[in-house]
Parts: sequence; C-alpha cells; structure tokens
Amino acid sequence: MQIIEVHTKSRPSTVYCGEGAYEQARQFLKDKETFIVTDTNVQRIYGEMLRKDFPAAEICVVKDGERNKNKNTLFQILDKMLKAQLHRNSIVAAIGGGVVGDMAGFAASVYMRGTRLVQIPTTLLAQVDSSVGGKTAIDYGGVKNVLGAFYQPEFVFCDPVFLKTLPSREMKCGWGEIIKTGVLDAKIGDRILENLSKTEDLAFLKEIIADCVRFKANVVEQDETERSGFRKCLNLGHTTGHALELKYGRRSHGEYVLIGMWLESVIAERENVSTAENARRVRQLVALAEKKIPTFQNVVSAVQYALLDKKNSEKGVVSMILSKARGEYTEYNLSADRYAEYLAMLQEKRS
Ligand SMILES: NC(=O)c1ccc[n+]([C@@H]2O[C@H](COP(=O)([O-])OP(=O)(O)OC[C@H]3O[C@@H](n4cnc5c(N)ncnc54)[C@H](O)[C@@H]3O)[C@@H](O)[C@H]2O)c1
Ligand SMILES: [Zn+2]
Repeated sequence: MQIIEVHTKSRPSTVYCGEGAYEQARQFLKDKETFIVTDTNVQRIYGEMLRKDFPAAEICVVKDGERNKNKNTLFQILDKMLKAQLHRNSIVAAIGGGVVGDMAGFAASVYMRGTRLVQIPTTLLAQVDSSVGGKTAIDYGGVKNVLGAFYQPEFVFCDPVFLKTLPSREMKCGWGEIIKTGVLDAKIGDRILENLSKTEDLAFLKEIIADCVRFKANVVEQDETERSGFRKCLNLGHTTGHALELKYGRRSHGEYVLIGMWLESVIAERENVSTAENARRVRQLVALAEKKIPTFQNVVSAVQYALLDKKNSEKGVVSMILSKARGEYTEYNLSADRYAEYLAMLQEKRS
C-alpha cells in the first residue's frame, strides 16, 4: 500500500492507496462516532458488508446519480446528521463515487461549521480524482458544482477492491481523468502507453491510481483554492468536455473529457501550440479509452456553453489548457468564431 501526504494550508490529508486501504479505514473508524453517507447502488452491493464492518455507525443512503446531487439531497443528509446528534468531532465517511463524495464533503463542511471528514471512494474517477483535493459541491439552478466549499478530508482510503463491481462505462469515465493526467505528466503518460492492454487490470490500476493521486496532490499543494491559476491545468480537455456535456448530456463526464482532449489536441496542433508528434501522442492516449470519436449534430452551438466556462477571463473568448509537448501545457485563448470552426470538426464523419 502507498501512503501519500497532501500538505495543504487549510488541513493536511493522508491518502492510503492500494489493497488493504479499506481495512485501514475500518481500523481508523472502529472506535469513532461515524456517520456514513453512501448511495442506493453502493448500498445494494456493499450494504451488508458496511453494516457488518461498521456496526455502530449511522448509515445515510441517498439516491444515486448526478441528478440527485442537489439541495434536497444535501438537506436530507444534514437533517440526518442533526437527528443523529453529530458533534464537531464526529466523522462523516463518504463511501461511494464522486457524487456522494462531493455532497457528503459539502455537508461535513457546513455542519457546525465543519465536522471531520474521510473519503472512501468506490469508483475509479473518485479514486484518481474527486476524493483528493478538497473540492466539495452540489449542482444548483442548472449549474454544475456552483455551491460548494474547499474542505480537505483528513484521510482518503482508495482501495481497488471496489473496482471489481464497477461497470465498464464507469471504468471508462475514470480513464478519462487518468489519460488527462497522462497528458499533463510525461512519466504517467509513458506508463499508460507501455501497458496498453491493462485498462481493467487491478494490479496495474493500483499503481496508476497512486500515480494520479500523487500528481493531483502536488498540484493541490501548490494551489489549493485555484487562486494562482496552477490548479487550472487539471481542466485539460474540460473546456470542450464541459460544453458538450452541457449541450448533449447522456454520455459520462469522462467520455466528454476524452472527446474534449481529442479536439483540443487538434486545436493545439493547428494553432502551432503543439508539435504534430505531441498532438498524435495525445490522440493515441485518448484512443485507449475512446476508440472512435463520435459525431455531433449542430455542434457549433455548443460554443455558447464554452463561453460560460469559469476559466474565461474575457468576453467572447474561449480559454483552454492545451498540451504543448510531453508533460508541458499552457493556457490558450481562442476567439469564439475560431473555436466554432474547430468544433465543426466534431460534426464531420471520420473513417
Ligand atoms: N471534487 C472534485 O474535485 C471532483 C473532480 C471530478 C469530478 N467530481 C464530481 O464527481 C462526480 C462524478 O463521480 P463518479 O464518476 O464517481 O459518479 P457517481 O458518484 O455518480 O458514480 C457512478 C455510479 O457508480 C455507482 N458506483 C459507485 N461505486 C460503485 C462500485 N464500486 N461498484 C458498482 N457501482 C458503483 C454509483 O452508485 C453511481 O451509480 C460528478 O458529480 C463530478 O462533478 C468532483
Ligand atoms: Zn473531470
């Protein structure tokens, strides 16, 4: 098992990665007042195990899925915390994917101005990305993650054992963020390319999860609250990814990030930000998880969603993080018209 420390200014956190991390969580929580938040899907698969492993804990089960990441579910959790008479020293344990982690984390941050928090992520996306770094949120008024707080968990326990029951679609979602990390960090990218056939191999996943956590920990340590701009690099592929996600829905976040990275690699190449060789490498990484980039109807109108992106600093300009060379990236601004021309490439049939 690997132990990764995240030295953030607000509160340090420790991430346990690998087999045995869940047992570590069980040992840590066994003599503490624990309030578990999980979702209906995770409860169906792991409910019996949780009841047995945490006999004294209160278990709060919320409806699964992004559409329930809202104020009603948040207040359901807070009501139960109040009824359970939690105090500031009680521990909220989020056991589930990023949706549970973001909501339970937000509830922990506001209840009595902050209770203790641990994350036990059970999806690949949550293990490589959302459980680490302290961003918590709910969606509100049709805007994703618009209400939230930076609130670091004391511990994160990433155990690959949970991935055995994760559907392929959710694995692909996690791979979107792993490949993003591989584009940002050359060594991680090489490691992925050297192990092309192992995207569902638990022994390999265990290693790559720890690599991604270490990378994210380093970014978050340097820019915990996204003030200096350094943390923005984690948004590679996300300008286009989010715009398509907002316009079309249906596919998973990770899949849109993969499509976003593909298009943004073409933009980087044509705008002479990236060498052709590097852009090809990005597309080779994307192809690992997204074999064929789909086509979209009326895709040009997605430009309006790209213009809403939080990263834009000027009106009428779309800002994105582009890969320049192996492990190098930059923030790049494009006029809305020019961006729309590139978006149109997603409408064309590719053989
Ligand atoms: N806080 C951050 O820094 C950050 C970063 C990236 C994404 N996010 C957020 O994370 C969310 C997406 O997270 P996600 O992809 O984990 O989605 P999710 O939490 O909706 O989980 C996906 C599905 O998998 C099920 N599931 C969870 N664990 C399982 C398991 N072990 N076996 C079988 N099924 C399981 C869930 O019940 C759910 O139906 C989004 O809301 C996104 O905004 C947050
Ligand atoms: Zn993402």
